[in-house]
Amino acid sequence: MNASAAWQHLEPKVVAINRRIAELEWEPSRRNNFVAYKPERDSSYVEVDGDRLLMMSGYGYIGLNGDQRVVEAAKAAVDEYGTGTPGVRALAGTIPLHEELEAEVAKFTGRESSLVFSSGYAANVGTVGALCGAGDTILLDKLDHASIVDGAQLSGATVTRFRHNDPRHLDRRLAGTDPDTTRLVVVDSVYSMDGDIAPLPELREVCDRHGALLMVDEAHSLGVIGATGRGIEEHFNNEVRADIKVGTLSKAVPSNGGWIVGNEQFLQWLKRLARPFLFSAALAPAQVGAALESLRILDREPERVTRAQAESARFRQIMSEAGMNTGDSQTAVVPLIVGSDENAWDYATACRKAGVIGLPVMTPAVPPGLARLRIAITAKHTREEIDFAIDAFLTAARQCRLIGE
Ligand SMILES: Cc1ncc(COP(=O)(O)O)c(C=O)c1O
Repeated sequence: MNASAAWQHLEPKVVAINRRIAELEWEPSRRNNFVAYKPERDSSYVEVDGDRLLMMSGYGYIGLNGDQRVVEAAKAAVDEYGTGTPGVRALAGTIPLHEELEAEVAKFTGRESSLVFSSGYAANVGTVGALCGAGDTILLDKLDHASIVDGAQLSGATVTRFRHNDPRHLDRRLAGTDPDTTRLVVVDSVYSMDGDIAPLPELREVCDRHGALLMVDEAHSLGVIGATGRGIEEHFNNEVRADIKVGTLSKAVPSNGGWIVGNEQFLQWLKRLARPFLFSAALAPAQVGAALESLRILDREPERVTRAQAESARFRQIMSEAGMNTGDSQTAVVPLIVGSDENAWDYATACRKAGVIGLPVMTPAVPPGLARLRIAITAKHTREEIDFAIDAFLTAARQCRLIGE
């Protein structure tokens, strides 16, 4: 078989996906995927195709991207250590700044130790894959992030799903597992497309009864929930703990990287087993410096968290009172659920014409028929910007007949 014959197998798949995107994005103002947005340093506006638009779908929950102190910390790290790291963490790649960052992550999250990976994706794949293998069972919430699902599938363990945020269904799933094996339950603390919160106390109770480990992914909860942004345990008044906590340095913390926290002995073991930690280059100095400074600022300025929490609650209330479907969101992540993929693209286009960017999310990232704009309210958004966005989202919703006049 020659190479072109081999490509023929792929061609129908490539054509089908490209056709679907072309159906949704038939003119430049409908392009949403892989578009380059140029952000303004001191506001939430971005430039795209010559237009100045208000970005309402970014991740920077505590408004620190572009903060001068974080920028200076990244520059200082480059001045001291250069732009790269000379290897993987196990071989020459660890610099003192990694250790400082790990100490800060551990302190901030209330655990003895931490390990920093080169992304949140790598932290999830590495952790889940190290904890479980053939013969074990991993139990995933139906809406868990793709990195958790990928880690579970790569691990070789049996993978089962339970209904979203349903501890009773988890209970039934656990009842059929072998108590002499590792059973690992993994949930997102805050669901990235829905903005709802995992019921930690109930999950803890079920896991304890079955002797299962409970792991939470704090990607969208660090800096977002809890009185000082410390995530899901603080949200539930520190009454219960997860066994394993992982998170990212790419959402509230404006850098890159992922982390896991736990006791020293466990992490010593994990760092020898987690493949993305062992076999991928260490996080670059600029990212480490930026992450370290951001965590220190978050620790000193919890008002960033409370302001974003108050503004998100106001946004959710106004949007749902106006008739928009915001699902079960309780956080800064607010879906505006509109149904079909076409509806989401039409709505995003109308929003853009009204001056705001709300990015559409379709299947497979969300279940069919639940396409949405994924909105995130951040501490950088001013009251004026949020009011402008509310007006624009509602004007566009009326134009698209999602709500009445
Ligand atoms: C819940 C969740 N976990 C993990 C990740 C992966 O993090 P990163 O983008 O830092 O690799 C994401 C990214 O979107 C996420 O939403």
